[in-house]
Amino acid sequence: MKKKVFIGLLLFWSCSSFAQKTESYFPPEELTTVGAYYYPEHWDEAQWDRDLQKMAEMGFEFTHFAEFAWAQLEPEEGVYDFKWLDKAVGLAAKHKLKVIMCTSTATPPVWLVRKHPDVLITREDGTQYDHGSRQHASFSNEFYREYAQKMIAELAKHYGDDDRIMGWQLDNEPHSNVDYGDDAQQRFRQWLKKKYKTIEALNDAWGTNFWSGTYRDFSEINIPQHKQWGMNLYQRLDHSRFCDYETSSFLDEQAETIRGYASPKQWITTNYIPMYDARFIGASRELDFISYTRYMVYGEHKGIGPRGYRVGEYSRIAMANDYFRPLTPVYGVMELQPGQVNWGTINSQPLPGAVRLWLWHVFAGGSQFTCTYRFRAPIYGYEQYHYGIVGPDGVTPTRGGLEYQQFIDEVKQLRRKSSLGETPADYLKRKTAILYDPDNTVAINQNKQTTVWDTEQHVLKYYKALKSFGSPVDFIRDTMDFSGYSVIVVPAYQQMSLDLVEKLTDYVKGGGNLIMSCRTGHQDELGHLWEAKHAEPIYELIGSSIEFYDLLRPYAPDTIAMDKEKFAWTSWGDILSPNAETETWAEYSGDFYAGKASVTYNQLGEGTVTYVGADSNQGDLEDAVLRKLYKRLDIDIQNYPEGITVEYRDGFGIAMNYADEDYVMDLSDDVEILIGDKLIPTAGVLVWRLK
Ligand code: GAL
Repeated sequence: MKKKVFIGLLLFWSCSSFAQKTESYFPPEELTTVGAYYYPEHWDEAQWDRDLQKMAEMGFEFTHFAEFAWAQLEPEEGVYDFKWLDKAVGLAAKHKLKVIMCTSTATPPVWLVRKHPDVLITREDGTQYDHGSRQHASFSNEFYREYAQKMIAELAKHYGDDDRIMGWQLDNEPHSNVDYGDDAQQRFRQWLKKKYKTIEALNDAWGTNFWSGTYRDFSEINIPQHKQWGMNLYQRLDHSRFCDYETSSFLDEQAETIRGYASPKQWITTNYIPMYDARFIGASRELDFISYTRYMVYGEHKGIGPRGYRVGEYSRIAMANDYFRPLTPVYGVMELQPGQVNWGTINSQPLPGAVRLWLWHVFAGGSQFTCTYRFRAPIYGYEQYHYGIVGPDGVTPTRGGLEYQQFIDEVKQLRRKSSLGETPADYLKRKTAILYDPDNTVAINQNKQTTVWDTEQHVLKYYKALKSFGSPVDFIRDTMDFSGYSVIVVPAYQQMSLDLVEKLTDYVKGGGNLIMSCRTGHQDELGHLWEAKHAEPIYELIGSSIEFYDLLRPYAPDTIAMDKEKFAWTSWGDILSPNAETETWAEYSGDFYAGKASVTYNQLGEGTVTYVGADSNQGDLEDAVLRKLYKRLDIDIQNYPEGITVEYRDGFGIAMNYADEDYVMDLSDDVEILIGDKLIPTAGVLVWRLK
């Protein structure tokens, strides 16, 4: 076996000093705060006062400026114009709206692009993007980085000591920076050199003896052609890590620049799209916290029942909450759809009530704030037809706008109840972690072995079962403390260091309960198979060996039998050979390995390890195994139908209905209903607290 190498992919924020800072940023008694994006540069200056007044009257408490305004902030190289923005900030303050200031880096001005065309991203086919849209400049380009920092420094000098600015948003929805330009090429080589130190170490890690791939020097390495057949897997994996690093380091540089001028009262964040294969989310340690953006109705997600597409898929907010919250001491939601969008495949109207439902869902997850893109519907530009809080006339609230207003009023009602209720003990007892590493997801997706496999869906099968139990869930990383969780699910954790195996073993021996699923631990952290039996380092944990794995054709699925029930599977099955003292919970029914174990349960020290060797087609096996385990562990679970989500936050119980029929919430008499009714209609919300 390979010697232990520990690569801590992420280091996390030290929470102690942060707790105090967070309270000054977001006073707990306010529970949450709601804001709206405003682009003064899009509108006649004479309307700014009216618009900001309206925003404040509707209850919004902050606004968001200068997100895409580099051309207005620096119309010529080195010539800065903040007068217009000063006026807008002044008007926001007049109406008691705090401001999030943005760094505008997603939209470089034309003078920069024409002076240094290399700032434009070069694609794999050698063609370049051009001016005229956004996010077309490369985080790997030295000029772009330099000019961005200069502009940000001026902005921070101007607004860093201004109490009207609550915080900063860096860039917009930063993405993985894939660029085939010259600077990117050089920086990739430097990044590799820093990582591997010697070319021999790189050759070893990349397994370049295979197919004569050996390099003699870092200068010989190019950015891999992802479309070229058979291209070295590790080179591609490292390249995608590099692209993510370019994003996280660019954000860190921006934050450092701002920090040089900003008062400690101002926080710094950015607004990520929740993507579960993005390593840069949570990796920029100069940020105070992270936030996300979410759009629920744009033609892609069916939701539940015929109207489900108007309500959206509940797990998209639930999982984003549970993924973002544990990564930094607090989190926020920077964009939440106010109504119809323009850019989807079919841009339907959300169901009346859905916008408010999403707001409550974000709140239920623990978010410190929600902001919406955007206050006024744009009447020109790519996003023409996008809804706002007010419509194209600039004054009439949209239905979504009114739902925001309703949510804000309801939060104010809760603020008055600020003696927080208790969180029920059974809810806390169900708290479960999912151990997750986006690097694994990228690695698996690069080399799936079967087209039927879907990593995100595999994780969701466990996640959705847990949500139907009414369990609070945290997505955690291997560097975090495991001790607060009585159950940890480790789904398809393909690359696993021996240190992590040891940490998990200690956790179990000390009384923790693990559920590990297929594809776990069969590679070391370099992505090489162990020079051992398949996944051998986890055999002691799972109390079983793995004879082999099988992948079925979609037209020939098999079933797994457990407790007289059958579960169809296709994509991945580990065929297990349990030790004498390990229980077999489920067996393969058909094919040449019928009767062999597919799910096992092992007691180890004070704890247990349940190994689920297969990925079921519908998630029913994962659900059934989790149920059986929670029963064994004596943890009471709820049985919510799909789409009914219940969370507790600050002592408030919140139930949300994404299903296609009414749901009657079973509440005991010792609760006080604050908002809604026990009968919750589709897109409805119920809020209560223990008396
Ligand atoms: C987001 C983006 C915003 C705006 C919005 C439109 O993804 O961050 O800038 O384009 O979509 O729905």
